[in-house]
Amino acid sequence: MHKKIVTMSHITKAFSGVTVLNNVDFNIYEGRIMALLGENGAGKSTLMKILTGVYEKTSGEVFLNGESVHFRDTKESQEKGIAIIHQELNLIGHLSIGENIFLGREPINRFGKIDWKRLYQESEKWIAMLGLHESPKVIVNELSVGKQQLVEIAKALSLDAKILIMDEPTGALTISETEKLFSVIRKLKEQNHSIVYISHRLEEIFKICDDITVLRDGGLIGEVPVNEVNEEKLIEMMVGRRLEEQYPKADGEIGNTILEVKGLDNPFVKNASFILKKGETLGIAGLMGSGRTELARTIYGIYKMDKGEIFINGSKIHIKNPRDAIKAGITYVSEDRKANGIVLGMSIKENITLASLKRLSGILGHVYRGREEEVTEEYMNSLSIKASSSKQLVKYLSGGNQQKVSIAKNLFSEPSILILDEPTRGVDVGAKKEIYNLINKFKKAGMSIIMISSEIPEILGLSDRVLVMHEGCVSGVLDVEDANQENIMSLAVGKGV
Ligand SMILES: Nc1ncnc2c1ncn2[C@@H]1O[C@H](COP(=O)(O)OP(=O)(O)OP(=O)(O)O)[C@@H](O)[C@H]1O
Ligand SMILES: [Mg+2]
Repeated sequence: MHKKIVTMSHITKAFSGVTVLNNVDFNIYEGRIMALLGENGAGKSTLMKILTGVYEKTSGEVFLNGESVHFRDTKESQEKGIAIIHQELNLIGHLSIGENIFLGREPINRFGKIDWKRLYQESEKWIAMLGLHESPKVIVNELSVGKQQLVEIAKALSLDAKILIMDEPTGALTISETEKLFSVIRKLKEQNHSIVYISHRLEEIFKICDDITVLRDGGLIGEVPVNEVNEEKLIEMMVGRRLEEQYPKADGEIGNTILEVKGLDNPFVKNASFILKKGETLGIAGLMGSGRTELARTIYGIYKMDKGEIFINGSKIHIKNPRDAIKAGITYVSEDRKANGIVLGMSIKENITLASLKRLSGILGHVYRGREEEVTEEYMNSLSIKASSSKQLVKYLSGGNQQKVSIAKNLFSEPSILILDEPTRGVDVGAKKEIYNLINKFKKAGMSIIMISSEIPEILGLSDRVLVMHEGCVSGVLDVEDANQENIMSLAVGKGV
């Protein structure tokens, strides 16, 4: 028997009358890593926010080392040795790495002033531990999302907490950053710290966790040691049913070339050329930082192109900004949902329909006027957006459901070319499949899709052709029949096939 360090008992939580956690028990054991799993909206983040004092529970009790505790804010839980890395980044963009790490608890020198030297030295130590070798004086806005995530993790580590909660810490990390994080987690475990680890990537769970707690629809499904379950069993616990074929293959015809990119060149992308056909899904694979996002953003007009040409249906077009791209029928769904124009303070319905209200019909033949409500419902159903109604504000949705709203919003504009950048990041297995089905539905209706993804199985499962990038160059294009994990990885690291 392992020592229970935290026991959450009969936890119930309702937001304005809607129950999102129902009588949940949850344990954290000393020196062990507990995975907390469940679909988007299952209640994982909410449960951890209750533990750390961000939210007040409706009923139930929390025990720390056998003693009943009640934290009113994160400051109080921190004082008792519990730290949390939130799913959404909580950094202040215009401050430096060091200022962010020590925000609100800056070291003070003997003159009562902030001890900057110590602040930066300490910060450097924490970020270096995670393999981030930036100066701690660098402004956070200048860092990539992945590096910002590392700063967020360093900030939590620096609290030297006995219990560390990580809510999807690896979403934006590269493979090597993730490995580094895992070695830090293992070290913490050796020092008898306890960790709660939330992730939708099941392979990570099997790699580092000891036990697993599964939630479904706000209820507890069970707690099991990791070595007593396999992936299939876990999915069944989370989704409540077996998932057949995770990658539904779309039929539908592939037509002529709709987009041709020729010799595109700028500081991020080197001489990139490729074509995209009508009704085709082109997967873009590559390591993080290989220029995939930059290629997409250049086509979309966010980055300037220094050289190169873009043709749509054979005629050359000039894209100077995203507005030009949208006019040409191109839509880009960013990997960063905050950059997708999702307005947290607006409702789901407003977010999905606002940008496109003027339009009467799209390629699927919908007539929208007066039907916003209906169409929003349709999207909410087909993407399983979990919310009390279409009027719910997006800021109250779980992370994965916000991602789905952002996809729905962009699908709603029914572009002829849709570029999706990591569309299923942070999305649970069940909802992933729904997103795949939707991609296929649009593809069948004649839309052409470019899908950037770090998950090779997803690329292989959905694409007709696979373009691989390495250091800003297109290192190869494969027909999906000829593509596999090995030759994609080999192109991704620049070895060729
Ligand atoms: N402040 C809030 N007000 C109203 N409803 C909320 C609030 N916070 C969360 N919810 C609702 O509670 C439910 C659980 O959300 P939670 O964020 O805990 O899910 P999650 O399991 O972390 O999902 P994900 O994997 O998508 O991050 C969701 O239906 C969500 O809409
Ligand atoms: Mg969450």
